[in-house]
Amino acid sequence: MEGQSLQVEMSTAKKEKPKADRLEFGRTFTDHMLVMDYSDEHGWHNAKIQPYQPISIDPSAIVLHYGQSVFEGLKAFRTKTGDVQLFRPQKNLERMNHSNHRLVIPPIDEEFVLYALKRLVDIDRDWVPDAEGTSLYIRPFIIATEPFLGVAPSQTYKFITILSPVGSYYKEGINPVKIAVENKFVRAVRGGTGEAKTGGNYAASLIAQKIVEKDGYSQVLWLDGVEKKYIEEVGSMNVFFKINGEVVTPELNGSILPGVTRDSVIHLLKHWGVPITERRISMQEIADAHQAGTLEESFGTGTAAVISPIGVLNWNGKEYVINDRKTGDLSKKIYDTITGIQYGKIADPFNWIEPVTNKETVNH
Ligand code: COI
Repeated sequence: MEGQSLQVEMSTAKKEKPKADRLEFGRTFTDHMLVMDYSDEHGWHNAKIQPYQPISIDPSAIVLHYGQSVFEGLKAFRTKTGDVQLFRPQKNLERMNHSNHRLVIPPIDEEFVLYALKRLVDIDRDWVPDAEGTSLYIRPFIIATEPFLGVAPSQTYKFITILSPVGSYYKEGINPVKIAVENKFVRAVRGGTGEAKTGGNYAASLIAQKIVEKDGYSQVLWLDGVEKKYIEEVGSMNVFFKINGEVVTPELNGSILPGVTRDSVIHLLKHWGVPITERRISMQEIADAHQAGTLEESFGTGTAAVISPIGVLNWNGKEYVINDRKTGDLSKKIYDTITGIQYGKIADPFNWIEPVTNKETVNH
């Protein structure tokens, strides 16, 4: 891994860019991608930025059968002055290595990968949209490529990063979403892969989401996998509640994804002196707070979803309307601050911003 070099092959055909006001989440991809291979003999090697293109994979590759893979999601933002910057990318790469550990995938060199990602974003910088609420979503992932049908960790892997200009994740934009509490299926159990960012967790979630979507709910809220009593997370977000002036969020118990936006919100709240507690929260507690009139706000957090207010929770067929289906003051303040830092509109007191300059084109 030491002294890895990065090759660059520029695309000759430039694709047409989508209109900024028509950006959906994750449907268009830029001109280039980053690839890198792993073998036991060479470690991570062959790092290359190349034209975006299909990959060829052996039908017996382990990932296709047993799902040995991890992924990440982070974003590049365009500032008013036209600069491009990333939000806490080191945290995503650190988390990728935690996921790698759980999935028995060899660790990446976080420093080298950050350098390569910044160069990729720099090369495709014209793809970073500038309309309000848009950004360039960065999707690094690793797949197990060894052609082998035995259940064992692969001896070869491919790391790929693709880029996608995106608008908001939900059709509601930043308006409150409706969420249904899931009582039958579970997403993860402690000791399972819940805290790793691996495709299987999302595959396991599809059936529940499909059922509730028919009734107008955007996603499901998962309860713990054992008692189905305690709140874990929402489809693609961590979740927060404001009860009687105090903010609470489920503690990281091994089955919850340690979100980068979740961590940033906790940091912000502490910085502002707003009481914030990470602890076990039962769904009954939320229903009781609603009944008592003390459930003031709820919102989800995620890279894709940013800060997404929750306007309605459905639990066992009963609708709990939160803050009159309006975005709460605290949710709005958090949204404005996080996006303000991301788009360079306000100061970044926590050093969360990593600029992408065209110095990235200098050889590593
Ligand atoms: C993200 O917020 O980046 C995620 O990975 C959620 C995703 C599954 C859309």
